[in-house]
Amino acid sequence: MRLKIKMMRRPVTKITTNFIEELDEIIETLCPDRVFVLTDNSAKKYCLPVLSTSKWLQNASVITIAQGDEHKNIASAVEIWTFLTKNDATRRSLMINLGGGVISDTGGFVAATFKRGIRYVNLSTTLLGAVDAATGGKTGVNFLGYKNEIGVFSPAEAVLVNTDFFHTLDAENLRSGFAEIVKHALIHSLEEWNGALAFDLDNVDFEKLKEILARSIRIKERIVEQDPKELHLRKALNAGHTVGHAIESWSYGLNRPVLHGYAVVWGLICELYLSFVQTGFPKNELLKFGRWAKEYYGECEIDCKHYDMLYELMRHDKKNEGDCINFTLLKRVGEPVVDRTASKKEIFESFDYLRDGW
Ligand SMILES: NC(=O)c1ccc[n+]([C@@H]2O[C@H](COP(=O)([O-])OP(=O)(O)OC[C@H]3O[C@@H](n4cnc5c(N)ncnc54)[C@H](O)[C@@H]3O)[C@@H](O)[C@H]2O)c1
Ligand SMILES: [Zn+2]
Repeated sequence: MRLKIKMMRRPVTKITTNFIEELDEIIETLCPDRVFVLTDNSAKKYCLPVLSTSKWLQNASVITIAQGDEHKNIASAVEIWTFLTKNDATRRSLMINLGGGVISDTGGFVAATFKRGIRYVNLSTTLLGAVDAATGGKTGVNFLGYKNEIGVFSPAEAVLVNTDFFHTLDAENLRSGFAEIVKHALIHSLEEWNGALAFDLDNVDFEKLKEILARSIRIKERIVEQDPKELHLRKALNAGHTVGHAIESWSYGLNRPVLHGYAVVWGLICELYLSFVQTGFPKNELLKFGRWAKEYYGECEIDCKHYDMLYELMRHDKKNEGDCINFTLLKRVGEPVVDRTASKKEIFESFDYLRDGW
């Protein structure tokens, strides 16, 4: 018997100019027996109506979960698994994740684990989803207060971005997504970094945003292509996230949730401070980033009484090995250094810097 060996897929994130036509083509190629659309309340309101002209999705079953990172959890996964089972989903069925990062992370995880894995497509409706969450195959849910604690690597069959959807995003969610564009620029080159920091977030030019987004997605894709399972190079994409994820979890614990991108910006303040101390990151770039962050993202309300809790959250980060907290630091813009660690004293100094030093 001759077996056909399937080459490893390399899904490409596409900014579409002809959304419904391209989407129908993708579904046609995948030839599913049933299609399920996963969405949340806002994406359902603003984006689902656009799918009504798709010949494949007109009669698709729609699963709607509550919106927000606090619903990226096992309870939502159970709700979706239950719906799939009760509505006769099979291994040949297809999930369409219509929404931001919460929907692609949760939907991707559910699809990857349902009947040992069904296929899924991400339709990003937020800037953050488009530039980061929907691409690269990291899926998962939060658990016991820790970010993305349960999850698997499992790439989407395709990722389509329709930038028209961004017009209904509020200013905070646009800024949250832009934070990941800045992170990609930081690890890539001085030219991208200066371009990103010069972008006017008070008066968003959506055409310019589309151009910068396309370059930013490519920066991520090129890294993921070389290291899909994050053994080395891909860790560069975690810049700002060791502290950032701790701030995000901490904010949920206090019932004062901050958006992912805001936590990443504040995480970057701390981690660029550590980079300045440890790997000689230029002070002028640190100060420049601080001014930009303060203008668009404001101040993080941490206090010394929160330091121990943030530190405990960081000790639990899945990037750690042994007892060391793992950071991606930078020697300079465009030159990340992965697998760095820092002492508790240095980490607390970086919190001081975030609190009042910048
Ligand atoms: N898997 C990864 O590689 C990766 C990378 C980065 C971030 N993430 C995760 O992504 C999540 C954050 O993503 P997000 O910022 O997209 O969050 P999100 O999915 O919660 O979306 C933000 C808000 O926008 C609403 N929304 C969605 N589309 C809209 C539209 N077109 N118009 C108006 N409102 C709309 C949503 O309902 C939600 O309230 C976090 O859970 C984060 O951990 C994952
Ligand atoms: Zn992120």
